[in-house]
Amino acid sequence: MGGIEIHALGKQFQINNRLIPAVCNFELQVSEREFVTIVGKSGCGKTTLLRLICGLENADQGYVRLAGHNGKAFDQRVSIVFQEPRLMPWLTVRQNMAFSLLKENDHQKVDRTVNFFLNMLGLTPFQDAYPRQISGGMAQRTALGRTLCFDPDIILMDEPFGALDAFTRHNLQQELVDIFLSQNKTIIFVTHDVNEAVLLGQRVLVMDKGSIRRELAIDIPYPRDALSKDFYNLREEILRSVLKP
Ligand SMILES: Nc1ncnc2c1ncn2[C@@H]1O[C@H](COP(=O)(O)OP(=O)(O)OP(=O)(O)O)[C@@H](O)[C@H]1O
Ligand SMILES: [Mg+2]
Repeated sequence: MGGIEIHALGKQFQINNRLIPAVCNFELQVSEREFVTIVGKSGCGKTTLLRLICGLENADQGYVRLAGHNGKAFDQRVSIVFQEPRLMPWLTVRQNMAFSLLKENDHQKVDRTVNFFLNMLGLTPFQDAYPRQISGGMAQRTALGRTLCFDPDIILMDEPFGALDAFTRHNLQQELVDIFLSQNKTIIFVTHDVNEAVLLGQRVLVMDKGSIRRELAIDIPYPRDALSKDFYNLREEILRSVLKP
């Protein structure tokens, strides 16, 4: 089960006696195996929202429920991929990916799982390399592989491809769609990039000042053609919503 229910969620921060409302009265229902993308200007609360969903931050108001459970604890069911890979430099690509399986006694099962995702992400030839020996795109793929080995029901992604060149980014976007279609995950993906939001999401949320300003269903089948008229129209509509003062 991997659905998410968010009701009246609120989070404020205090900087030098000034209260910053990061997430305000936020409402959202995400179905199991849904792919939702969130776009919005810098500072509108996207990262805070993801941190609240996975329990890295405590809410001031409202609640997050993961498939009917109280989702405050960071448990087996939810995993977050950050903008930067955050790999452990003293472990190889393979060991980083296998990290969440350290306590698993069935070593053959661990090997099978890690081999499967190394292969899926094109990392098999670099499995024994250390993070300093691989490119940024490979490091981000390793971080994604680590999450997939962990096998969460829900994957939260915070601008995971933001620091990558356009070519690597394009490849990873296609890989993520394949993973979504084959692995039955529920995904919330945050991005600044409207094009990326339309390319990936079944639903795009436009976030502004801590809540949802606009919501659009994307009914175009995968893999999507970014040059098609439907794609262009949706992208323009979302862009106008993001830019609206
Ligand atoms: N730990 C913190 N302490 C104080 N203020 C914070 C903290 N984390 C976030 N904020 C504030 O909350 C607001 C929302 O920040 P958040 O990082 O969620 O935005 P964002 O939409 O992810 O922005 P970006 O697109 O730049 O990553 C900002 O005004 C930020 O200054
Ligand atoms: Mg952010």
